[in-house]
Amino acid sequence: MLLLRPALVLLSAAIGSAAAAQTLDPTDSAALGAAAHQATSNIVNLYSTQLAAGKASQGGFDQSAVSWFASGIIWSQVFGNSYVTKDHSMDNVAGTAISAATYGTTADLLGGALKTVNEKLYGRWNDDMGWWAIGMLSAVDAYGKDALIPGGGKFLDVAALTFNEMYEQWDTQCGGGIYWSRDRSPTQKDADYKSTISNSQFVEMGARLAMLTANQTYLDMAAQAYNWIKSSGVMTAQWVVTDGVHTASCGTVNPTALGYNQGVMLSAMAYMYKATKLQSYLDDAKALVNAAVPVYAPNNIVTEPLCPVGACGRETPMGKPQFVKGLSDVYTVATDAAVKSTIQTVIDTTLASALKNCDANWWCSQDWTNVRAPAQSDPYDQYGTTELLVAAARVHGATAPAGTSAGNLGTAPAGGSSSAATAPGGSSAPASTGAAAKKSSAISISTGGAVSILGSIALGVVAAGLANLV
Ligand SMILES: *[C@@H]1O[C@H](CO)[C@@H](O)[C@H](O)[C@H]1NC(C)=O
Repeated sequence: MLLLRPALVLLSAAIGSAAAAQTLDPTDSAALGAAAHQATSNIVNLYSTQLAAGKASQGGFDQSAVSWFASGIIWSQVFGNSYVTKDHSMDNVAGTAISAATYGTTADLLGGALKTVNEKLYGRWNDDMGWWAIGMLSAVDAYGKDALIPGGGKFLDVAALTFNEMYEQWDTQCGGGIYWSRDRSPTQKDADYKSTISNSQFVEMGARLAMLTANQTYLDMAAQAYNWIKSSGVMTAQWVVTDGVHTASCGTVNPTALGYNQGVMLSAMAYMYKATKLQSYLDDAKALVNAAVPVYAPNNIVTEPLCPVGACGRETPMGKPQFVKGLSDVYTVATDAAVKSTIQTVIDTTLASALKNCDANWWCSQDWTNVRAPAQSDPYDQYGTTELLVAAARVHGATAPAGTSAGNLGTAPAGGSSSAATAPGGSSAPASTGAAAKKSSAISISTGGAVSILGSIALGVVAAGLANLV
C-alpha cells in the first residue's frame, strides 16, 4: 500500500550543491547496462548495509523508513534488470530477501499457519503481496520455472500460492473484484474497498502464471478480473484507471487516478496479450497509452500529477516508476509503430531529464523534472531511476557489465549465464511489473520490535484537495 499523507512535511531538501549530471546514450547497450548495474547496486548495497546492521526485516529495508511493499517493488526491479540485461550479480541478495519474506521453507508470504495473525499484525494487504509476487515471477523469467528461492520454495510456486491467496479475497459484491485489505472487519479502514491495483496485479500475475505453467485456469481467472475492471467502471470508458470502488457504493468509483494505476494496468494488458494473442488487449493498451501519456507525461517527462515530489508522503516516489514500467511492458509486445514511438519518446525524454539528477556514482533523485540532488541513503529516492533504466533497457536492449552474468541463485539462469539481452525485453516476457503505491493504514515494526500503527489518509482524500485530473 502506498501511504499517502498531506504535504505537511516536504522531503528533506537536497543538501549541498547540485550533483554533476550524468549523460547516457540509451542506444549504447553497454553504457545502459552499466548504468542500470551501478544504480541498482547502490540500492541493493543500502539494503545489505541495513541487513548487516540488523535493521532490515522480513526481507524488507528498515521498515521504520521504508514500507514492506516498497521493498517487494525494489526486488522486482532487481530481477527485472537481471532478466533484461542478464546482470545476475544482485540476485542472491534479492532472492535471500524474498526467502525472508516468505518464511524460508514455509514458502508463503503469509507465513503458513501464521496467516491470520500475520495478515493483521503486519498489514499484509493484497496489493502488498502482489508486488512481491510479481518480483518472484521476474525471478522465474530470469532463472526458469524450477528456480528456488534460497533456502525456500520455488519462486513459481510461491507466486502461484500468492495468486490463489489473493483470489480468496474475491467475492461478488459489485459484481466481482478482489478487496484491497485482507481484513473484512468493520473496524478495518477501507475494509469494503476493492482497489483497482489489487485487481490489475492479479491480471498480470494470472497471465504470467498461465504462460509459465500452461494452466488455463490462471488465464481464465485473470480474464475474469480484467472483465470486472471494465464492467465495474474502475477503468472508465474514457480509459481512465481510477483507484477503486467501495462495495457500499458499487456504482460510484473513487475517481482518483494515479499514474501507477495506469502503469500496472498497462502491464496487465501487455501480459494478457502475450498470453492470449488476442488483439483486443493490444487495442486496449493502445487506447490507454494514448489517454494516459498526455496526463502523466506532459512534455514526455513522466510525473505523478496528483503527487509531485514530497506531496503524498514518503511513498510518493514508488508510484511514478510504475507508469514507466507499464509503458515498457507494452513496448515489448506492441505491433503498432505509433504506440511504440510514443512510448520510446516518453522513456527517452524522461531518462534524459532524470539524468541531470544522477551523480557520478549513479546516485539519483526521485525528481525527474527539476534539479534536485540525490539523497544517498534513501532507497525511495534512488528506486525510480533504477526502474527507468530497466525500462529503457526493455526498449533499447542493454548489456550487463563483464563479470555480472554468472547466476548466483544456485540455479543456472534461464538462457545461459553469459549472453546479453540485446533484444528489447529479452526473449520471453515483458519485464516485470510492479506497481503501485498504496495508501491506507499500515503497521510497521520499529527496529526495537514495537508495533506502531501508522495513521492513514486515503489517497482520495489527499487528492481531493489537489488538482483535478482528467
Ligand atoms: C491450475 O491452477 C488452478 C488455480 O490455481 C489450480 O486450482 C489447479 O489445480 C491447477 N491445475 C493443475 C493441473 O495444476
